[in-house]
Amino acid sequence: VNILGISAFYHDSAAALVRDGRVVAAAQEERFSRRKHDAAFPSAAIRYCLEHAEVGPDEIDAVAFYDKPVTTFNRLLRTYLQVAPRGFPMFHRGTLLWLRDKLWVPYVIERGLRDLGYRMPKDLSFSEHHASHAASAFYPSPFPSAAVLTFDGVGEWATTSIGHGEGNRLTIERQLDFPHSIGLLYSAFTYHCGFRVNSGEYKLMGLAPYGDPTFVDEIHELIDLRDDGSFHLDMRAFGYLDGDHMTNRRFDRLFGGPARPPESEITRRELDLARSIQDVTEEIVLRIARQAAALTGERDACLAGGVALNCVSNARLLREGPFDRIWVQPAAGDAGGAIGAALYEWFQTQGGEREVDDVHDGMAGCRLGPSFTSDEIAASLDERQRPYRRCSSRDDMARTVAELVDDGKVVGVFAGRMEFGPRALGARSILADARSPEMQAKVNASIKERESFRPFAPAVLEERAADWFELDAPAPYMTIVADVCAAHRVPGGDERGGSLAEWVGRARSDIPAVTHVDFSARVQTVNKETCPELHAILDAFHTRTGCPVMINTSFNVRGEPIVCTPEDAYRSFMGSGLDHLVLEDLVLDKAEQPPFADVDEWRSSITAD
Ligand SMILES: [Fe+2]
Repeated sequence: VNILGISAFYHDSAAALVRDGRVVAAAQEERFSRRKHDAAFPSAAIRYCLEHAEVGPDEIDAVAFYDKPVTTFNRLLRTYLQVAPRGFPMFHRGTLLWLRDKLWVPYVIERGLRDLGYRMPKDLSFSEHHASHAASAFYPSPFPSAAVLTFDGVGEWATTSIGHGEGNRLTIERQLDFPHSIGLLYSAFTYHCGFRVNSGEYKLMGLAPYGDPTFVDEIHELIDLRDDGSFHLDMRAFGYLDGDHMTNRRFDRLFGGPARPPESEITRRELDLARSIQDVTEEIVLRIARQAAALTGERDACLAGGVALNCVSNARLLREGPFDRIWVQPAAGDAGGAIGAALYEWFQTQGGEREVDDVHDGMAGCRLGPSFTSDEIAASLDERQRPYRRCSSRDDMARTVAELVDDGKVVGVFAGRMEFGPRALGARSILADARSPEMQAKVNASIKERESFRPFAPAVLEERAADWFELDAPAPYMTIVADVCAAHRVPGGDERGGSLAEWVGRARSDIPAVTHVDFSARVQTVNKETCPELHAILDAFHTRTGCPVMINTSFNVRGEPIVCTPEDAYRSFMGSGLDHLVLEDLVLDKAEQPPFADVDEWRSSITAD
């Protein structure tokens, strides 16, 4: 049974193909359209999923959409009526969008499939937004039963839910409704600190360890938080019901002035705001988790929704919360809703049987996207007279990359199926030496063109992870932070003070480029089965240097989605400070490449982040 899952029209549109309960393919539209967070109908992603799974024109059995647009529209109308006539400009803009696309989803899907040459099946289902998140968290998890926690900005009405998964059944036990939202609260602070809502939340989380929780009391003035984790926001300080911005003047007064203009200097206030909202978020998550444990009696928990991408809060939940194990859907944002909706249709609606493997989860290491053979890549390079060297084996490729990285080079690696979700996990990754004190600044400045306060994420051989990080279980998806082991820290490395630049630049461990100011790191443990290429590279690097850790950052430049095709990779390689590019077993040296005329045109096509 082929079920096509679709998530679209909000941000991060995506498609997924679930066959007999197994996720066979999944991809975000942005990777094909090259528009970051693309919210359009995901035609290209759908085409990829159906072609990869070899689904014939009449062989789609059901389509599952990840939310209920009519209910969401109803929420918009009711919210407007509550605040009218305030908020009219926002309401007006919003309704136009709705009338164009979102209310006509069944027709848009039918037309979209027809344009691609597929027949619309009779079965079209709409699951609730939080049910989709919950399904994406529970069904692929390695747990037979679990508490299921979802938190995000907002779906139809729900912003947070507690569910219970047992076998193939999923029930939502409790939910908290709009406008009271932990995701929107966090986004309000993201906006106030000068970062972009829906993408800058990571930056805020990255700033938090530099700050002190001096604004916690003020935040508690805005939020009436109960023991069970439910809460009530004081809407008088927020602008998302009736204004153009997330926050308003009342909010400014409470937090020492207006929002920081984007790109201006980051001050003490932003550091302290970031830390304060992070602490409050963690407190809310912990309370919700305790309530979930009490309601379900479960020892394990699954998480999804945008807030589940907060890997610092996930780590604290694991450390201090009521659960023995947690599993976070790696595509915890709305893209993952495509997988969730399809799984919900198969298990919950159609009653499909669920087999649980307690070692392997159902996400296949997120390797669910397109891949390209070495021969087709070589043919295209030959045609364009781009020189490369072909390695004799995977070991040869791995040794070559290890040597380059040891030599201080920054290498783009393109290998196998593209990852689904926001993180690059070795299939579309930039690798560099984590031991080098200059590497964080170098890669940030010459490739990622971003603020330098965020350290990179480390990839580490799974079997060596415990030697370097305080981790007692694999963390294959970068959904959790762990501290660098004491043996690898520089004594006094967590000393605070000085300017932000001095502070960032201080060496804190043997792997300074991936160690945050509080010794934490957003670890990816690399498994030989799911990430064979990156595993081989780390293994070769370990043999060569004694260090099984590298910087692993996503293969893209600022404002650009992660690369999808070899041509995307070549363009980013030529248009950035990358030294070498590895396309499967083909190694390219920047110094040998012919001039690349398209760089300027490509640069101007990237929408600013
Ligand atoms: Fe969501």
